[in-house]
Amino acid sequence: CKRSNGKVMKQRLLVVANRLPVSAVRQGEDSWALEISAGGLVSALLGVKDVDAKWIGWAGVNVPDEVGQRALTKALAEKRCIPVFLDEEIVHQYYNGYCNNVLWPLFHYLGLPQEDRLATTRSFQSQFDAYKRANQMFADVVNQHYQEGDVVWCHDYHLMFLPKYLKEYNSKMKVGWFLHTPFPSSEIHRTLPSRSELLRSVLAADLVGFHTYDYARHFVSACTRILGLEGTPEGVEDQGRLTRVAAFPIGIDSDRFKRALELPAVKEHINELTQRFADRKVMLGVDRLDMIKGIPQKILAFEKFLEENPTWRDKVVLLQIAVPTRTDVPEYQKLTSQVHEIVGRINGRFGTLTAVPIHHLDRSLDFHALCALYAVTDVALVTSLRDGMNLVSYEFVACQGEKKGVLILSEFAGAAQSLGAGALLVNPWNITEVAASIGYALNMPADEREKRHRHNYAHVTTHTAQDWAETFVSELNDTVVEAQIRTRQ
Ligand code: G6P
Repeated sequence: CKRSNGKVMKQRLLVVANRLPVSAVRQGEDSWALEISAGGLVSALLGVKDVDAKWIGWAGVNVPDEVGQRALTKALAEKRCIPVFLDEEIVHQYYNGYCNNVLWPLFHYLGLPQEDRLATTRSFQSQFDAYKRANQMFADVVNQHYQEGDVVWCHDYHLMFLPKYLKEYNSKMKVGWFLHTPFPSSEIHRTLPSRSELLRSVLAADLVGFHTYDYARHFVSACTRILGLEGTPEGVEDQGRLTRVAAFPIGIDSDRFKRALELPAVKEHINELTQRFADRKVMLGVDRLDMIKGIPQKILAFEKFLEENPTWRDKVVLLQIAVPTRTDVPEYQKLTSQVHEIVGRINGRFGTLTAVPIHHLDRSLDFHALCALYAVTDVALVTSLRDGMNLVSYEFVACQGEKKGVLILSEFAGAAQSLGAGALLVNPWNITEVAASIGYALNMPADEREKRHRHNYAHVTTHTAQDWAETFVSELNDTVVEAQIRTRQ
């Protein structure tokens, strides 16, 4: 808190992310229906004490006309959101192209686009140019709304140029940047043609944050090896200027899940599901339908388990919720067909006239339905090939107060570093190992389940999203103050 004219002022925070936490549907020429998505970041920031946060980002819709833009801006203002308008071409080149076809797979160790993913080198360059243009558009909107003393918190791989553009506009602005994906080994990052520019732009921030210590270490190594800068225990130093680099593992708002489980409608839904699956153990996967989530690997491991354990075939069901995402990117379209093909084959192989082993849904569930599903699950399967953190694993644990189910968790998810002692860690590429873990989890004695659950539950309920946001914002404030003291000395 700061004092101004005797009044206590809240710390103003501008949160900048590619996507605003709203879904906007146009109802008429100048009217919009908005729904706020209450997940992760939003509840984290709503819960931060003494902070007055506003969001800046893309509303996920193309609004070519001024009337529509004005109306949307007004409607969003009531939700403390400020839009950045991106036209279809820039969305195609920046979002579908450079963000989701280049940076996203690279940061998850899936490599740079091969020829079939990238028609010509020219298109790579034009995607990168569009990326910079889009980042400049975000910077322009931040600059229009920035007031002295504000803290600006930039999020994720979409906005790696933003710290540089903001500091060019005003070198006194307090700027933090946080990456929600892994930062890969410097050996992977150095394959990126624009490797140096991206690193330098991020280094313009005062504080750079990652989910795990390993990602922070990879980033510092990339700066030392590729840019020749000095890595220190505090971060990266360039000609006397320090960019602080640290790990800030995110969490969830676990109370929100606890409260949901107390609602009569959710309890009723839990009863329905319990009856529906009374004769089977329930295994659950909840993922965006993304190649990093290892969905084919998960389903193949489940097939292997059924193959090797005929007695379990009519005693277990796998519910896979695969939320469609980035559907304009060809890689994602291919993955959808691949998953459908595998599920169809396995259900054909092990299904009966009355039951199938896999229920695969290509859609999201509303929050309450999801909580009920988590609560009735015996074994959750998270098999990400790489994942920044993976909060599904946290959400599952938060809803398992009574059941104390087992979490099978990929060692390549950031969450493995926090839930590793309670979960069964697996290498998702090793289908034999995952299949064996499924068997182990389904047969696990109650006392072992209880012990493992207790460990995870304690972590999830004490390392919340709110703590994460509070720690980052206060560290950013401290970092800037320390830098000012150093400069004065
Ligand atoms: C990941 C990214 C987020 C992104 C989300 C959904 O979690 O780190 O920045 O918003 O995926 O993806 P989308 O492309 O739909 O925004």
